[in-house]
Amino acid sequence: MIITMGEEEKTSGDKAKSQLSFDDVLSFIEFIEECYGEQFIITEDKNNDKNEKKESSSTKNKGAGIFEKIMEEVSKLPDPYHIIREEKQRMLKDIAERIKVCKKCELWKGRTNAVPGDGNPSAQIVFVGEAPGYEEDKRGKPFVGKSGKLLIKMIQDVLGMRREDVFITNIVRCRPPENRTPEKEEISACLNYLFEELSVIRPRIVVALGAPAAKAILGKDEKISEMRGKFYTRPEFTVFVTFHPAFVVRNPSYTETLENDFKKIKEFFES
Ligand code: URA
Ligand code: SF4
Repeated sequence: MIITMGEEEKTSGDKAKSQLSFDDVLSFIEFIEECYGEQFIITEDKNNDKNEKKESSSTKNKGAGIFEKIMEEVSKLPDPYHIIREEKQRMLKDIAERIKVCKKCELWKGRTNAVPGDGNPSAQIVFVGEAPGYEEDKRGKPFVGKSGKLLIKMIQDVLGMRREDVFITNIVRCRPPENRTPEKEEISACLNYLFEELSVIRPRIVVALGAPAAKAILGKDEKISEMRGKFYTRPEFTVFVTFHPAFVVRNPSYTETLENDFKKIKEFFES
């Protein structure tokens, strides 16, 4: 879209825009350009001579101030939210493509599929598990097995959200042999993918599921009993630690604790 700006619009102004200064209009244009990039270009109208009033296609709405013209054109553009979401989706896809062919640690040798993060690119909440298990390795998608069922149930029942509303990922993207805990070197080789995903999504809260995820995200070496149920404020987002759902599947007596932790997450959103 090109909006042409004539001489009289830059200087004196008509009644319709009398409340707006030229600087106001310029900062509004900068904001719109930030949202829409190259789709929105503002130019000076070299032909718009005061004595020679030619009608160009962009000035057909005679008498309207520059602000009205901008609003008219902007109303035809897609919602900036969708543009941002599409751009985030494209960036996440790029990260996923690199994960799928990654050989930065030995775990690639045992994988059927590497498992990138999955979900809403504009999610306010990101869940981070440990590493893919049998089902995840087979399908290339995180938390699709037994522990995934419990995680999704908590998301739905307690948070009132759907799987598609949140983003779900792991600290390690290839299944370790026999589902063993990932080694330190494997985590440090893989962790940057998580931070890349988080810098694209920019969620309000990151939920670490279990000790390995909490330790990796917080850079702390504390016990899960120390960290569980707590919020940690970081410059980019808040981190909350809870049990890994696989642990709760094996130890159902902790279901209520997990549920209470999810209630705390809900309160965080409501505060
Ligand atoms: N456990 C995890 O930590 N991550 C998954 O993706 C599945 C099970
Ligand atoms: Fe790469 Fe991570 Fe897989 Fe290791 S676990 S090969 S670092 S994707």
